[in-house]
Amino acid sequence: PPRVVVLISGSGSNLQALIDAQSHDRLGGEIVAVIANEPDAYGLKRARDAGIDAVALPHREYESREAYDGALIKVIERHEPDVIVLAGFMRILTPRFVQRFLGRMLNIHPSLLPAYQGLNTHARALADQATRHGCSVHFVTEELDGGPVVLQAELKVSADDNVETLKQKVQDREHLIFPIAVQWFLQGRLQYTGEGATMDGHRLPPDGMR
Ligand code: GAR
Repeated sequence: PPRVVVLISGSGSNLQALIDAQSHDRLGGEIVAVIANEPDAYGLKRARDAGIDAVALPHREYESREAYDGALIKVIERHEPDVIVLAGFMRILTPRFVQRFLGRMLNIHPSLLPAYQGLNTHARALADQATRHGCSVHFVTEELDGGPVVLQAELKVSADDNVETLKQKVQDREHLIFPIAVQWFLQGRLQYTGEGATMDGHRLPPDGMR
Protein backbone atom coordinates (compact mmCIF):
# COMPACT_ATOMS: atom_id res chain seq x y z
CA PRO A 1 0.00 0.00 0.00
CA PRO A 2 1.03 3.65 -0.43
CA ARG A 3 3.09 4.97 2.44
CA VAL A 4 2.06 7.88 4.67
CA VAL A 5 4.28 9.87 7.05
CA VAL A 6 2.47 12.17 9.49
CA LEU A 7 4.09 15.18 11.19
CA ILE A 8 2.58 16.48 14.42
CA SER A 9 3.34 18.84 17.30
CA GLY A 10 0.58 18.19 19.82
CA SER A 11 -2.52 16.27 20.69
CA GLY A 12 -2.78 14.47 17.39
CA SER A 13 -6.55 14.30 17.16
CA ASN A 14 -6.23 14.60 13.39
CA LEU A 15 -3.63 11.85 13.46
CA GLN A 16 -6.19 9.73 15.33
CA ALA A 17 -8.76 10.40 12.61
CA LEU A 18 -6.22 9.22 10.03
CA ILE A 19 -5.42 6.10 12.08
CA ASP A 20 -9.14 5.34 12.43
CA ALA A 21 -9.66 5.84 8.69
CA GLN A 22 -6.80 3.44 7.99
CA SER A 23 -8.29 0.80 10.27
CA HIS A 24 -11.56 1.07 8.33
CA ASP A 25 -9.74 0.86 4.96
CA ARG A 26 -10.67 4.44 4.19
CA LEU A 27 -7.22 6.01 4.05
CA GLY A 28 -5.90 4.38 0.91
CA GLY A 29 -2.51 3.79 2.47
CA GLU A 30 -0.55 2.86 5.54
CA ILE A 31 0.80 5.29 8.12
CA VAL A 32 4.41 4.12 8.39
CA ALA A 33 5.73 6.79 10.76
CA VAL A 34 4.64 9.68 12.95
CA ILE A 35 7.23 12.35 13.66
CA ALA A 36 6.87 15.08 16.30
CA ASN A 37 9.05 18.11 16.95
CA GLU A 38 7.71 18.17 20.52
CA PRO A 39 8.90 15.07 22.36
CA ASP A 40 5.93 15.20 24.76
CA ALA A 41 3.31 15.39 22.00
CA TYR A 42 0.36 13.20 22.98
CA GLY A 43 0.05 12.13 19.35
CA LEU A 44 3.23 10.06 19.74
CA LYS A 45 1.37 7.89 22.25
CA ARG A 46 -1.55 7.57 19.84
CA ALA A 47 0.92 6.35 17.20
CA ARG A 48 2.58 3.83 19.53
CA ASP A 49 -0.81 2.54 20.68
CA ALA A 50 -1.65 1.90 17.04
CA GLY A 51 1.64 0.08 16.47
CA ILE A 52 3.07 2.85 14.31
CA ASP A 53 6.71 3.92 14.41
CA ALA A 54 6.72 7.08 16.60
CA VAL A 55 9.72 9.38 16.30
CA ALA A 56 10.49 12.39 18.51
CA LEU A 57 12.74 14.86 16.72
CA PRO A 58 13.01 17.86 19.07
CA HIS A 59 13.74 21.07 17.20
CA ARG A 60 15.41 22.54 20.29
CA GLU A 61 18.36 20.23 19.76
CA TYR A 62 19.23 21.92 16.47
CA GLU A 63 20.96 25.25 16.11
CA SER A 64 19.07 26.49 13.09
CA ARG A 65 15.87 25.96 11.13
CA GLU A 66 17.97 24.73 8.21
CA ALA A 67 19.74 22.14 10.36
CA TYR A 68 16.46 20.91 11.81
CA ASP A 69 14.71 20.64 8.48
CA GLY A 70 17.74 18.81 7.07
CA ALA A 71 17.46 16.23 9.84
CA LEU A 72 13.71 16.01 9.33
CA ILE A 73 14.16 15.37 5.60
CA LYS A 74 16.48 12.47 6.44
CA VAL A 75 14.06 10.86 8.89
CA ILE A 76 11.15 11.28 6.49
CA GLU A 77 13.02 9.88 3.49
CA ARG A 78 14.08 6.81 5.44
CA HIS A 79 10.38 5.89 5.43
CA GLU A 80 9.97 6.40 1.65
CA PRO A 81 6.57 8.10 1.89
CA ASP A 82 4.16 8.70 -0.97
CA VAL A 83 2.58 11.53 0.97
CA ILE A 84 3.66 13.72 3.89
CA VAL A 85 0.72 14.80 6.04
CA LEU A 86 1.01 17.82 8.33
CA ALA A 87 -1.49 17.23 11.12
CA GLY A 88 -1.00 20.12 13.51
CA PHE A 89 2.72 20.46 12.79
CA MET A 90 3.35 23.92 14.20
CA ARG A 91 6.59 24.82 12.44
CA ILE A 92 7.42 27.13 9.59
CA LEU A 93 9.16 25.07 6.92
CA THR A 94 12.31 26.08 5.06
CA PRO A 95 12.13 26.49 1.27
CA ARG A 96 14.48 23.51 0.89
CA PHE A 97 12.11 21.31 2.87
CA VAL A 98 9.06 22.44 0.92
CA GLN A 99 10.81 21.97 -2.43
CA ARG A 100 11.88 18.46 -1.49
CA PHE A 101 8.30 17.31 -0.98
CA LEU A 102 6.46 19.74 -3.25
CA GLY A 103 3.26 18.27 -4.63
CA ARG A 104 3.06 15.45 -2.09
CA MET A 105 2.57 17.33 1.15
CA LEU A 106 -0.88 18.15 2.58
CA ASN A 107 -1.74 20.38 5.56
CA ILE A 108 -4.91 20.94 7.58
CA HIS A 109 -5.55 24.53 8.60
CA PRO A 110 -8.25 25.77 11.01
CA SER A 111 -9.86 28.43 8.82
CA LEU A 112 -11.56 28.91 5.49
CA LEU A 113 -8.41 29.84 3.59
CA PRO A 114 -7.41 32.34 2.31
CA ALA A 115 -9.02 33.88 5.42
CA TYR A 116 -6.97 33.74 8.60
CA GLN A 117 -3.65 32.34 7.57
CA GLY A 118 -1.30 31.87 10.53
CA LEU A 119 -2.20 31.43 14.18
CA ASN A 120 -5.19 32.13 16.49
CA THR A 121 -7.69 31.64 13.71
CA HIS A 122 -10.72 31.08 15.97
CA ALA A 123 -10.10 34.20 18.07
CA ARG A 124 -9.63 36.27 14.93
CA ALA A 125 -12.83 34.95 13.35
CA LEU A 126 -14.74 35.81 16.55
CA ALA A 127 -13.17 39.26 16.77
CA ASP A 128 -14.30 39.92 13.20
CA GLN A 129 -17.81 38.64 14.03
CA ALA A 130 -17.43 36.28 11.11
CA THR A 131 -20.65 34.37 10.45
CA ARG A 132 -18.87 31.48 8.76
CA HIS A 133 -15.70 29.65 9.71
CA GLY A 134 -14.22 26.24 9.08
CA CYS A 135 -11.14 24.36 7.98
CA SER A 136 -9.15 23.72 4.84
CA VAL A 137 -6.90 20.99 3.46
CA HIS A 138 -4.28 22.40 1.13
CA PHE A 139 -1.08 21.48 -0.66
CA VAL A 140 1.95 22.94 1.08
CA THR A 141 3.97 25.48 -0.88
CA GLU A 142 6.57 28.02 0.19
CA GLU A 143 3.86 30.56 0.94
CA LEU A 144 2.73 29.95 4.54
CA ASP A 145 -0.84 28.59 4.51
CA GLY A 146 -0.98 29.80 0.91
CA GLY A 147 -0.84 26.61 -1.17
CA PRO A 148 -3.75 25.47 -3.33
CA VAL A 149 -6.83 24.51 -1.35
CA VAL A 150 -8.22 21.06 -1.97
CA LEU A 151 -11.17 20.67 0.36
CA GLN A 152 -12.96 22.83 2.91
CA ALA A 153 -15.65 22.29 5.53
CA GLU A 154 -17.71 25.33 6.46
CA LEU A 155 -19.80 25.96 9.54
CA LYS A 156 -21.96 28.73 10.93
CA VAL A 157 -20.62 30.72 13.84
CA SER A 158 -23.34 31.23 16.44
CA ALA A 159 -23.70 34.22 18.73
CA ASP A 160 -22.70 32.23 21.81
CA ASP A 161 -19.59 30.60 20.31
CA ASN A 162 -16.28 31.19 22.06
CA VAL A 163 -12.77 30.09 21.11
CA GLU A 164 -13.22 26.69 22.75
CA THR A 165 -16.59 25.83 21.18
CA LEU A 166 -15.45 27.05 17.81
CA LYS A 167 -12.21 25.07 18.01
CA GLN A 168 -14.19 21.92 18.84
CA LYS A 169 -16.63 22.45 15.98
CA VAL A 170 -13.81 23.10 13.53
CA GLN A 171 -11.79 20.10 14.68
CA ASP A 172 -14.82 17.80 14.32
CA ARG A 173 -14.90 18.85 10.66
CA GLU A 174 -11.13 18.49 10.30
CA HIS A 175 -11.42 14.87 11.38
CA LEU A 176 -13.98 14.29 8.64
CA ILE A 177 -12.27 15.99 5.70
CA PHE A 178 -8.58 15.30 6.25
CA PRO A 179 -8.70 11.51 5.77
CA ILE A 180 -10.85 12.02 2.66
CA ALA A 181 -8.32 14.36 1.08
CA VAL A 182 -5.43 12.00 1.90
CA GLN A 183 -7.34 9.11 0.36
CA TRP A 184 -8.07 11.07 -2.82
CA PHE A 185 -4.38 11.94 -3.11
CA LEU A 186 -3.26 8.33 -2.62
CA GLN A 187 -5.80 7.19 -5.21
CA GLY A 188 -4.13 9.53 -7.68
CA ARG A 189 -7.23 11.69 -8.00
CA LEU A 190 -5.77 14.86 -6.50
CA GLN A 191 -2.81 16.56 -8.05
CA TYR A 192 -0.69 19.64 -7.52
CA THR A 193 0.02 21.28 -10.86
CA GLY A 194 2.42 24.04 -9.89
CA GLU A 195 -0.29 26.68 -10.15
CA GLY A 196 -3.21 24.99 -8.49
CA ALA A 197 -4.74 21.66 -7.69
CA THR A 198 -6.76 19.28 -9.82
CA MET A 199 -9.31 16.64 -8.87
CA ASP A 200 -9.86 13.87 -11.43
CA GLY A 201 -8.06 16.12 -13.92
CA HIS A 202 -10.32 19.11 -13.33
CA ARG A 203 -8.92 22.35 -12.04
CA LEU A 204 -10.21 23.14 -8.55
CA PRO A 205 -11.46 26.63 -7.68
CA PRO A 206 -9.25 28.72 -5.38
CA ASP A 207 -11.22 27.64 -2.31
CA GLY A 208 -11.25 23.96 -3.27
CA MET A 209 -14.22 21.69 -2.84
CA ARG A 210 -16.75 22.05 -0.06
C1 GAR B 1 -5.66 21.45 14.25
O1 GAR B 1 -6.84 22.14 14.58
C2 GAR B 1 -5.03 22.04 13.01
O2 GAR B 1 -5.96 22.60 12.13
C3 GAR B 1 -4.14 23.09 13.59
O3 GAR B 1 -3.64 22.53 14.76
C4 GAR B 1 -4.60 21.64 15.32
C5 GAR B 1 -3.91 20.35 15.70
O4 GAR B 1 -4.75 19.54 16.47
N1 GAR B 1 -3.09 23.44 12.68
C6 GAR B 1 -2.59 24.67 12.57
O5 GAR B 1 -2.95 25.60 13.24
C7 GAR B 1 -1.51 24.80 11.51
N2 GAR B 1 -1.01 26.14 11.48
P1 GAR B 1 -4.44 18.00 16.65
O6 GAR B 1 -3.00 17.86 17.12
O7 GAR B 1 -5.41 17.55 17.71
O8 GAR B 1 -4.66 17.31 15.34
